Amino acid sequence: MNDKRDDIYAYNEKGFGHFVFDQRVVEVFPDMIKRSVPGYSTIIHMVGQIAERYAQAGSNCYDLGCSLGASTLAMRHRIQAANVRIVSVDNSADMIERCKLVIDADSHDVPVELRCEDLLQSELNNASVVVMNFTLQFIAPGKRDQLISKIYKGMRPGGVLVLSEKLKFNDDHHDQLMNELHHYFKKTNGYSDLEIAKKRSALENVLIPESLEKHKQRLAACGFKGTELWFQCFNFSSLLAFKE
Ligand SMILES: C[S@@+](CC[C@H](N)C(=O)[O-])C[C@H]1O[C@@H](n2cnc3c(N)ncnc32)[C@H](O)[C@@H]1O
Repeated sequence: MNDKRDDIYAYNEKGFGHFVFDQRVVEVFPDMIKRSVPGYSTIIHMVGQIAERYAQAGSNCYDLGCSLGASTLAMRHRIQAANVRIVSVDNSADMIERCKLVIDADSHDVPVELRCEDLLQSELNNASVVVMNFTLQFIAPGKRDQLISKIYKGMRPGGVLVLSEKLKFNDDHHDQLMNELHHYFKKTNGYSDLEIAKKRSALENVLIPESLEKHKQRLAACGFKGTELWFQCFNFSSLLAFKE
């Protein structure tokens, strides 16, 4: 099935407020994320491979901020360990409703539990794999320590957290360069300068990126060992963080 094209910011409508994950976004989300996040398809593919390697028998695998379940399906299709359950959480009812259709249309037999919940309230336990793909950036910065700490406590020894985030850079010149390269990536994917500018303004104070150093420092402070940057393209990254 062809993804419906994202043209949310293509028209000269007034009254765009803050970006929200509502029905309008749900309709175009697969196209939006692929044309906006460099390396998105690679990251999703690798999430499957990482889950295959790290999922432990009798454990839970989490997809936190699951949207339409791309990481959920990637994990579901690769996990070999016995008695694994995937728990996929998102606080957008529109996302979860559509995600349910996606999961129901998939015939694989690893059980998936969908939860429409705020990650800050959601319970997490017995986890061997936790995926948070471009979601921590939408959590209020003051709540991020508490969320990462909860994830760490809910994980089994030998477990892995996949944390994908848009990055900001401490060096202003470098930060601007990465933003320009990302802007060009979106342009070459068919977004106009106006669309890019409107989306950026809608995401202001909604998507709040942090530096790689800040993520590593927080992960270490919460107990994770051996954090590794395994993917980066411009200002988009993915980290692996291990629980010993
Ligand atoms: C960029 S999308 C994630 C994309 C998805 N992980 C993927 O790889 O396709 C961010 C998602 O996080 C969800 N989200 C944001 N804040 C949340 C919160 N506090 N609790 C649960 N979900 C949240 C949004 O509804 C949205 O679906």
